[in-house]
Amino acid sequence: MKSDISKLKTEFFSLYGDRDREPVLFYSPGRVNLIGEHTDYNGGYVFPCALDFGTTLLVRMCSGREIRMNSLNFPGEVVIPLSLNYLPVPRSWTNYPVGVINEFARKGIAAPAMEMLFTGDIPNGAGLSSSASIEMVTAVAMNELSGAGLEMIEMVKMAQKAENGFVGMNCGIMDQFAVGFGRANHAINLNCDTLEYRYAPVSLGDRKLVITNTNKRRGLTDSKYNERRAECEKAVALISLHRPVRNLSDLTVSDLWMIDSYIPDPVVRKRAKHVITENGRTLDAIKALENNDIALLGKLMNESHDSLCTDYEVTGAELDTLVYEGRKLPGVIGTRMTGAGFGGCTVSIVESAHAKEFISRLGEIYNAKTGLTADFYLPGIGDGARRV
Ligand code: GLA
Repeated sequence: MKSDISKLKTEFFSLYGDRDREPVLFYSPGRVNLIGEHTDYNGGYVFPCALDFGTTLLVRMCSGREIRMNSLNFPGEVVIPLSLNYLPVPRSWTNYPVGVINEFARKGIAAPAMEMLFTGDIPNGAGLSSSASIEMVTAVAMNELSGAGLEMIEMVKMAQKAENGFVGMNCGIMDQFAVGFGRANHAINLNCDTLEYRYAPVSLGDRKLVITNTNKRRGLTDSKYNERRAECEKAVALISLHRPVRNLSDLTVSDLWMIDSYIPDPVVRKRAKHVITENGRTLDAIKALENNDIALLGKLMNESHDSLCTDYEVTGAELDTLVYEGRKLPGVIGTRMTGAGFGGCTVSIVESAHAKEFISRLGEIYNAKTGLTADFYLPGIGDGARRV
């Protein structure tokens, strides 16, 4: 899945000419979340890692008053006049980079005229953060070309803001953080309330991480996502009538009685239960990995999916087929959906000796049951967004 840099350069020069002036190369990964789902916007814990595939950007400053954007993934050039207040264009991929450029502008850091060529090998809309990846590759490039000298955490927050305000997806901070702060062979133990984080080495021994893409076309993801956020806010408002809580992550499993006592709506109650129990599982999973107890990590991943299926209701037939059929196969230690849900991908830990069989058998079963063809990836864990 590695991008082909020389092909990209050839394309760059055929689009923009002037072979004497070299463009600069930036790269930003995708991410997979091992556990801690729908906790980030509730001030909770997440445990993602950056992948070894992502988005590559070649960029060169130029004369004029425009930013020229091309992508090998989307046809057609988009030309954006320099501005201090950019506006989104309905359904265009350029909203991700332009949203970030707009955040820089809001800080008084004006974009230079640029020629940009993007390419990415993260499947779009598959829950592996192709959006955060294109945002963060733009942020690190803008930071360097403008000489702004912003810290990574600042850029992570700006990219999240761009996604919230410019793209219109009300995401938490996990994706941009994981993509910005990723470290090879490590997962990031992030507290989304304080933004404190620690790296945890991921050494799975004779087991492999397998990502499986449902290839289900995403439909209502954004509206359902926002609906879940609103349900969590409602839970906090109801509990706050009795106890001071800032967010659901102020509560632990020993407080679960509160949701039964204070939340009359059974749906809102289930949503709160997921968030509270998921935080507990995430902390346990981080410890399990530290203790090299991969069996326990797998068990917690399974429980995470069950909770996302039953209490948070963000899975759906395709993800559930992959997970519940996958669990029946030999060598599967844990398997769950990853990302927002409603489609997208699962992440599984599978014994290396059984990985091939897992891929072929699950692929067949999934196709027979859903009519869809799944894609399988055996990702490495890579570094975060950077100049190459
Ligand atoms: C999406 C969002 C993240 C996070 C996950 C669910 O990936 O962008 O902020 O909420 O869903 O854990």
